[in-house]
Amino acid sequence: TEEQLHDWIAAAKEALGSRVQILGHFYQRDEIVQHADFVGDSFMLAQAAKQHPEAEAFVFCGVHFMAETADILSGPEQAVILPNLAAGCSMADMATIDQVEQCWRELTAALGEENGGSGLQPVIPVTYMNSSAAIKAFCGRNGGIVCTSSNARTVLEWAFARGQRVVFFPDQHLGRNTAKAMGIGEEQMPLWRPHLPLGGNTAEQLREARVILWNGFCSVHKRFTVAQIEQARAEHPGVRVIVHPECPAAVVEAADGAGSTEYIRKEIEAAAPGTVIAVGTEINLVNRLQQQRPDLTVFCLDPVVCPCSTMYRIHPAYLAWTLESLLAGETPNRIVVDGTVAADSRVALERMLAARP
Ligand code: 13P
Ligand code: SF4
Repeated sequence: TEEQLHDWIAAAKEALGSRVQILGHFYQRDEIVQHADFVGDSFMLAQAAKQHPEAEAFVFCGVHFMAETADILSGPEQAVILPNLAAGCSMADMATIDQVEQCWRELTAALGEENGGSGLQPVIPVTYMNSSAAIKAFCGRNGGIVCTSSNARTVLEWAFARGQRVVFFPDQHLGRNTAKAMGIGEEQMPLWRPHLPLGGNTAEQLREARVILWNGFCSVHKRFTVAQIEQARAEHPGVRVIVHPECPAAVVEAADGAGSTEYIRKEIEAAAPGTVIAVGTEINLVNRLQQQRPDLTVFCLDPVVCPCSTMYRIHPAYLAWTLESLLAGETPNRIVVDGTVAADSRVALERMLAARP
C-alpha cells in the first residue's frame, strides 16, 4: 500500500543517514516532498548541491537538467541520481546543442565584429537553467552565463555590461518578460526560429535587437491566459494574482506580481490572513501552498489541473527503489556530466552564482 511504501522510504532514509541527501523541486508531488531533506526552486537546488560536501550521493527529485546541474556543481566523488530517467523537460528539449551552435554561427556572422567603439561584445549568450549541460557549456565557452527565473534580471544586467545584445535560450517568455521589465521594447526582441535562415529575421533586425529570443516555451505555463485572470478578478474582487515568469508577457502584465517558485512561496507565506490569491504555476505547488496556509484562499488560475507531467514522473516507488539500491551499495540512474562539457558549463554556472546587479 501507499502507506507501507512511505514507511519503507522513511526507514531506508534513516538507515542511509546524512550520506544521502534527497533534494526536491517545489513542483514535486507531496508524497516526494515529505521525504526530501531540502526543497527549493532551481537556483536554491543548484546552491544546495554545493553545500553538502559530506554527502556521498544526492537523490535528485526533479528533472534531468537540474540533476545535470547538481552533478556539475557537486564534488567529483559525489553521485547525483535521478530516480526516473524519463523525467525530462519539454522546454529544455526545444533547444539542441546543434541548433544553438548553428544559430551562433549565423548570428555572429550577421553581426560581424562591430561594437560601435563601445568595447562591448556584439552578443552574449545567456541560457535559462532549463537547458542541457551542452548548452550551458556552450555559454561558458563563449563568454556567456546561466540564469534562473529568480535572477534573470541580474544576469541580463551582467550580460549588458559585457555585450551590446543578448541571445537568450530557450524560454522566450522568461527572456521577454525580463527584458520588458528592464525597459526594452518588444521591437528590439526578435524571435529566433531555429529552422529558418537567420532564425526568420533580417540581418538589419538582428543588428537592431537587444535581446534575441529563442522560440521555446513551457507547455505548463503557456496555458495561463489573461481571460483566466479577468475571470478570477470578476469572481473574487480584491484577489491578488501572482504568476511564474514562464507565462506569456500579457499574462505577466495582467498579474500583480511575477517571480520564481520561491518568490511565489514567499508571497503566500507573507500574505495577511484572509487574502485570496490566484496563482499561475504548477498545481502541486499551488495545492501545497494552500494546505500550508488554510487561513488564505489560494487557487490555480487554470481550472483544468495542470501538473508538469515530467516532474510527476518521480513516483514514490522510484524513490524507494533508488534508496534500496543505495542501501545495497549500488548507484543506479547516475547522471554524469564529464570532460569539457562539465568544465565549461561550470564556468557559466559559477558566473551566475557570482553575478550581482
Ligand atoms: P524555478 O524553480 O526556478 O522557479 O523554475 C520553475 C521551473 O520551471 C522548473 O522547471
Ligand atoms: Fe519544464 Fe515547464 Fe515542467 Fe518546468 S514546468 S520542468 S519548464 S515543462
